[in-house]
Amino acid sequence: MEKIVIDGGQALRGSVVNSGAKNAALPILIATLVAPGEHRLANVPDLADVSSTLSLLGRIGCPSLAKLDGADGTLRLDTTRVAYSEAPYDVVRKMRASVLVLGPLLARCGEARVSLPGGCAIGVRPIDQHLKGLEALGCRFELANGYVNGVAPELKGAEIHLDVPTVTGTENIVMAAVLARGTTRIHNAAREPEVVDLCRFLISLGARIDGAGTPTIVIDGVDRLTPASRPYRILPDRVEAGTYLAAAAATGGDVTVTGSDPTLLQAVLDLLERAGCTIETSRDTIRLRREGELRPFSVTTEPFPGFPTDMQAQVMALACFARGTSSIVETIFENRFLHAAELSRMGAKITASERTAKVEGTGSLQGAAVMASDLRASAALVVAALAARGLTEVLRIYHLDRGYDDLCGKLRRLGARIARVGDEIASRDALLAAVASVPAAGSSAATDAGGVAAR
Ligand code: EPU
Repeated sequence: MEKIVIDGGQALRGSVVNSGAKNAALPILIATLVAPGEHRLANVPDLADVSSTLSLLGRIGCPSLAKLDGADGTLRLDTTRVAYSEAPYDVVRKMRASVLVLGPLLARCGEARVSLPGGCAIGVRPIDQHLKGLEALGCRFELANGYVNGVAPELKGAEIHLDVPTVTGTENIVMAAVLARGTTRIHNAAREPEVVDLCRFLISLGARIDGAGTPTIVIDGVDRLTPASRPYRILPDRVEAGTYLAAAAATGGDVTVTGSDPTLLQAVLDLLERAGCTIETSRDTIRLRREGELRPFSVTTEPFPGFPTDMQAQVMALACFARGTSSIVETIFENRFLHAAELSRMGAKITASERTAKVEGTGSLQGAAVMASDLRASAALVVAALAARGLTEVLRIYHLDRGYDDLCGKLRRLGARIARVGDEIASRDALLAAVASVPAAGSSAATDAGGVAAR
């Protein structure tokens, strides 16, 4: 097992390339199932969740034709044949997004068997809305032995009213509706950019979809979809971009995120400006500078275009470096403040009730050993550690590998003193040597004999 060690207090400076969005890549990889043949994708991020999705597709009978090319994120997939319409427990328990195979498999094979994802660290996360939407299209489900067994003798368009604008629920229903007979209208659909990207991808395969990005998505089913002749490029990851900007803000740095799209994270940029940062954007770059003091702020998470829940933990870390009281309200997930306790181990003063957290910012934190509970909580600990005084060790970094492409390499090139080390490296001197021994800016090679890896 590895951990990440960070010697904080260094202002981040320079530019960092925005990778493709995890939450667009996963549904798009899975959506290739609805169009038999060879697919080409570009800007696919190099993440553990992408590997898990490819291995799930491989088990279904759809192999990757070439390894994901880390340099430009290109990937080829062959979905000509589906051998098994199943997502087993050992895959789903590692990655909830596996449940996205339900809609495409039902549409393509008329049956699917998917392990129920169950709850996770951030909430109960039911899939009742996925099932309700698919049932409206004509699927029938039975729950047995922890699995959802679905059959779809025939899919017919329907009017579907979602009780909550669920992201993966909307995606599951869209992926089935594109091959249903007639018109489907999804009301109260999720408007997230990743849903829009999935719809654009499906349109590139011949699907007829209107209204993606609005609360009503209209899908006219077609008989057949076919792979596009040109590679489809995944949109940039707004949460990754936001995380680097939050780190730049916390450390009082000057960072430009390139290959990005500022329109995807306006609510985050607005908050960072309210917190005292200067933001400049172009069509595909975002520059953040922070010269003065950070200001405390209030923020409430909301579905897109509101402030994203996936940035809540990172801005909680940021609030610790402002002087004064910040207030953070989480409305999407019922248990997404687990990072508060870990931040407290670094000296943060946070009181969190059910949905509201109050941060009494003191302007500083100290390094400590901390444990990540989920992906974005881990990102928050990294943001905190980069700006904290002294050494922080972040444990359970497999969460970070799920969602951040080359996190240590990217941060190092911004001047951070950060390294991945083996769990067994414990002495302060060895940890300091590890963060000091990493390659100079611009290099991405793995390092030294002390068990330090550059990933
Ligand atoms: N919900 C229901 N019933 C359902 C589905 C959802 O009650 O059938 C509730 C959930 O319990 C939650 C709310 O609706 O309270 C919103 O959940 P949603 O379904 O939108 O979340 P998701 O689709 O499971 C995706 C992202 C998450 C992100 C959320 C919210 C993917 C693969 N995951 O999850 O990303 O937090 O939308 O934007 O797209 C992450 O990247 O770290 C992450 C957790």
